[in-house]
Amino acid sequence: MDKIKVPFVDLSRFYKNHRDKILELTDQVGNSGIYILGNIVEEFERDFATYCGVNHAISVGNGTDALALCLHALDIGPGDEVIIPANSFIATAGAVVEVRAIPVCVDVDTEQNISIDAIEKAVTQKTKAIIVVHLNGNPARIEKIEQRFKNTNIKIIEDAAQSIGAEINGKRTGSFGECGCFSLHPLKNFHMFGDGGMITTNSTEMKIKLDRLRNHGLIDRNKCEEFSRNSRLDALQANYGKYLLPYLEDWTERVIKIAEYYHSEFKEFCYVPKTREHVRSVYHNYVIQTQNRNELSLYLKENGIETKIHYPIPIVEQPAWQKLSVKSEPVPFVKKQKEEILSLPIYAELNDIEVEYVAQKVKGFFLETQLVKEAV
Ligand SMILES: Cc1ncc(COP(=O)(O)O)c(C=O)c1O
Repeated sequence: MDKIKVPFVDLSRFYKNHRDKILELTDQVGNSGIYILGNIVEEFERDFATYCGVNHAISVGNGTDALALCLHALDIGPGDEVIIPANSFIATAGAVVEVRAIPVCVDVDTEQNISIDAIEKAVTQKTKAIIVVHLNGNPARIEKIEQRFKNTNIKIIEDAAQSIGAEINGKRTGSFGECGCFSLHPLKNFHMFGDGGMITTNSTEMKIKLDRLRNHGLIDRNKCEEFSRNSRLDALQANYGKYLLPYLEDWTERVIKIAEYYHSEFKEFCYVPKTREHVRSVYHNYVIQTQNRNELSLYLKENGIETKIHYPIPIVEQPAWQKLSVKSEPVPFVKKQKEEILSLPIYAELNDIEVEYVAQKVKGFFLETQLVKEAV
């Protein structure tokens, strides 16, 4: 196969596929004269709630605000401990710090998701919440975590920023726990053309609180019940979102098909992402694991294939974490994985030639170097 370039992501392909409609939707909002919140935003929220199988969806400015606002709505603040996985995007920790609570980072399992054993060891009298991240779009064991903490005062929040459409026994992520937090950032599986976020919940009380907290704590135009932030969604983004949401299942199916092809091509050479039985992963990232990660990534780069690492610096090793002076739990799995994980290009707009090229080059690396699969 001739050398080709395969970018890790290419959002301009997505834009080209929808350009005419996007221009029409932009004009529609321009003419409406309502640019923040309003009817279009409410319609998008209803569609999003239906997609996730919950009673309510509350749109916000971004995924980090979604997390911080949920913590705020649950009255979690100074002195309270919130357990989070040590391998996530830094926003998971950032949201906890923003409400001035204490993040407690714990280790992950072989699937890179928060470990239930590590949670058990980290729980104290001060634990008020656990944020369960479905990393890379692969659902964590949230149903088990929910069951375990059902009769306690510890709240379960889903960080579903990477997992829209993922399911456990047919139940979508974002419908477990107290609330689900989504990012609609352009690099997410479902996105529009700017920042955005969504909170999902079955609780009407949370819905009422969050409607208020995302809008300065105002209960009407002039009266502020409780100080909060401004985190509202634009009507433009909502209008794009409303139009794009019906495409999500097709994109997800395409991504799953690519992942299954990668599995079949790579499984004898390296660790491929495992999915539990009755679980649907949506492969926000397709992460393989090999002790020869750096050599493989260089080889792919030389062959025109862009790769990334999610994440090269665990939260507990971030300079910002050192400044917090909070205690750290041991995270041996996170430390091992950060040396071995590699994310390959995976998105709906990749064509078959590109997918086959990636597969051929990854396999080529292992065959040329005659490396055998190691245990993870
Ligand atoms: C796991 C996780 N949590 C939270 C966020 C924060 O979302 P946003 O960038 O929309 O604030 C992200 C997005 O990058 C994420 O991947």
